[in-house]
Amino acid sequence: MSEKTMPFYDVDRTYEDNYRFGPFGAFAEELGGDAKDGVSADQVTRAVASGLTEHEAADHEPAESFFGVPVDLPFGIPAGPLLNERFTTAAFRMGFDLAVYKTVRSRAWGCNPFPNVLAVHPQSADGVLSPGSPECDEGVLADHRFETPISISNSFGVPSQDPDVWQPDMQRAMERAGAGQLLVPSFQGSRVDGMTAAEYVADHVTTAHLVLETGAQVMEMNTSCPNEGHNRLLCHAPDQVRLITEAVKNEIGDVPLIIKLAYLPSDEDLEYMVRVTAGRGLVQGFSTINTISARLVDAKGAQALPGAGRDRSGVCGAAIRPSGLDMVRRLSAIRERLGLDFGIVGVGGVTVPQDYFDYRAAGADAVMSATGAMWNPALARRIKSR
Ligand SMILES: Cc1cc2nc3c(=O)[nH]c(=O)nc-3n(C[C@H](O)[C@H](O)[C@H](O)COP(=O)(O)O)c2cc1C
Repeated sequence: MSEKTMPFYDVDRTYEDNYRFGPFGAFAEELGGDAKDGVSADQVTRAVASGLTEHEAADHEPAESFFGVPVDLPFGIPAGPLLNERFTTAAFRMGFDLAVYKTVRSRAWGCNPFPNVLAVHPQSADGVLSPGSPECDEGVLADHRFETPISISNSFGVPSQDPDVWQPDMQRAMERAGAGQLLVPSFQGSRVDGMTAAEYVADHVTTAHLVLETGAQVMEMNTSCPNEGHNRLLCHAPDQVRLITEAVKNEIGDVPLIIKLAYLPSDEDLEYMVRVTAGRGLVQGFSTINTISARLVDAKGAQALPGAGRDRSGVCGAAIRPSGLDMVRRLSAIRERLGLDFGIVGVGGVTVPQDYFDYRAAGADAVMSATGAMWNPALARRIKSR
């Protein structure tokens, strides 16, 4: 892979090496020598981070807003590929005005074994993978041919550093947002063996409190994670999400809370989720979608990712764009029908500038790209030049 096309998260290295030595490619160049030895980037002024002179920054009026915070372009990178402050600082300097700090937990949490990312090749002529389609169960080819339009597996298990590590790092990440830019922390609860339902709710509250202590202006809670022991995702249990968001909102007060949703196929289920969360003022927005679950196989039809429980993996990138757009359109219609004013963050398969505009037209107030941005680090600049 040439230096030009090298993703800022190096899929040929472990998660731990990415955390320690990343980012790579154009993001590393943007940080200069700081990134290579794992030393934090030098403090940059808010003006420099957003590519403005000090003088321009003084008169700078961001054109849009993200949950009440002024931002230049409501476009950025969602929870996942930005592992720490060096990644988020590089993203800001590359013109991504929204940077979500990878999902953190109340405790250190290990990563699934390497490899975590494979290239995924759905068989349909247009390369689309639809949730629940037979292909998702029969098997989708996954290998090392990373080519555009890019789709990948994402099998990490949501690793986290200990709060003693991520709290100061998250705080630094916030300080390095430029004028018209915003760092958004993502967090989730952790279920461990023997935990009661009440303890699981309390773990969300503890984590939200730890995030709040860093000075977060907006927070995102991941509900598209496995609801361990239930063989489903947390967002497939809306009443549980209601209980958790009630407790979290009680803790964080006026700080806007976004919840991250997976694709929900039924309009009825989606509307119920909206009614019991946004409809009660417990959440202020939805970020959607997360990955689509599929069985991944190699060219011989064998399990592509090594290890027990890794028969299926989340798929993201170009293949899931129609599903992301569909969720945004349906959420937007529900918002109008119920007369609510929650925000919608459109995620899924954004790989070229036109995708940003298509998500905005579908009703998204902000748009984010994970896979697309990894392989196209100039994506925000390209959108801005349009
Ligand atoms: C490397 C990687 C790691 C991810 N980790 C997380 C995570 O920790 N929390 C989360 O809510 N979503 C995570 N995601 C999902 C993304 O936020 C996003 O919802 C999904 O990738 C779809 O967007 P995309 O098609 O632009 O990649 C991750 C995605 C990638 C590519």
